[in-house]
Amino acid sequence: MSALTIQSERQPRASRILGIGGYRPSRVVTNAEIVEQIDSSDEWIRTRSGIESRRWAGDDETVISMSLAAARKALADAGIQPEQVDCVIVSTVTHLYQTPSAAAQIAYELGTNRAAAFDVSAACAGFCYGLSLASDMVRVGTAGHVVVIGVERLSDLTDRTDRSTAFLFADGAGAAVVGPAAGAADAGIGPVVWGSDGQHLEHITQKENWRDALFNETGPAMPHLVMQGNPVFRWASYEMAKVAQEALDAAGVTVDDLDMFVPHQANMRITDAMARQLKLPERVAIARDIATQGNTSAASIPLAIERMLETGEAQSGDLALIIGFGAGLVYAGQVIRIP
Ligand SMILES: CC(C)(COP(=O)(O)OP(=O)(O)OC[C@H]1O[C@@H](n2cnc3c(N)ncnc32)[C@H](O)[C@@H]1OP(=O)(O)O)[C@@H](O)C(=O)NCCC(=O)NCCS
Repeated sequence: MSALTIQSERQPRASRILGIGGYRPSRVVTNAEIVEQIDSSDEWIRTRSGIESRRWAGDDETVISMSLAAARKALADAGIQPEQVDCVIVSTVTHLYQTPSAAAQIAYELGTNRAAAFDVSAACAGFCYGLSLASDMVRVGTAGHVVVIGVERLSDLTDRTDRSTAFLFADGAGAAVVGPAAGAADAGIGPVVWGSDGQHLEHITQKENWRDALFNETGPAMPHLVMQGNPVFRWASYEMAKVAQEALDAAGVTVDDLDMFVPHQANMRITDAMARQLKLPERVAIARDIATQGNTSAASIPLAIERMLETGEAQSGDLALIIGFGAGLVYAGQVIRIP
């Protein structure tokens, strides 16, 4: 037996988000278009979900192309060159290749110098999961700079005649560049509070596996997402506020320290219910990107942050509470400093 000690200890350092970027597909889909195929109304969709319109990707707006556009914007925002990227993490449930990963293709097309690359399947919590992994990699020195992408083309897996999901899901990409902070006082990503609750697997799920979708009596068809909206709504509205509070506690901040609240854009009423339970002061800016973007799952948080920066609702240096939750059921939240 060798007595050699494997070198494994590195001095932890602080991490932060250095840049943010997003991509929104060009086609705007109104509620009027949605209700052509389902028994619903513009008014019902607005009042029950807060959605006025959403974006659906065209043929040339793929998981890869949308990711590349968002990642390039985030890198430019961070002032980081692709060769400085050591790892690319892509959170998605709509990359249509089981293998290879979207991340490997994106790392190559971005022009990174053979960065490590992998995909994460954590549905609407995907961006927060990816951010947590990236932060820990940077903190222990596994990577210098990490690109985290949340991307979805949910329109591919949405049954446009299913009134429980057709108005909700949408497409887009958001990205963040994570790197070392200048020092402990500059730390920009708080500890993640995360988990899963697999007993509620059936509340949001792909209806059938790929084999059953392809080889059935009526011929091959895309599998669709099915959702029991109300149980998800109640779980998200009540349980997720507790997780959000734990994320605040873990970072050592209170709602009075916050400038922004950016929950996953699932439903405007879920956002409002969480804000009420957290007792957010009125001056805290709340992400409401869902109104014109719909539910883009893993992309929704970085897209909402980018929009808030563009509109002036958010400024560089702001303290934000982010929380993602969705199919699994899975969830993750953390406090971040806006780059
Ligand atoms: C989907 C969602 C908007 C539905 O809102 P809700 O208040 O829970 O509505 P319910 O499902 O209880 O349905 C209420 C009524 O509206 C009807 N309804 C359902 N979908 C409808 C639609 N698209 N248009 C019109 N009526 C509809 C129902 O049949 C029901 O009618 P009833 O009262 O006569 O029985 C809401 O549950 C939701 O957003 N859930 C979470 C979704 C989510 O976050 N998913 C992804 C995870 S991140």
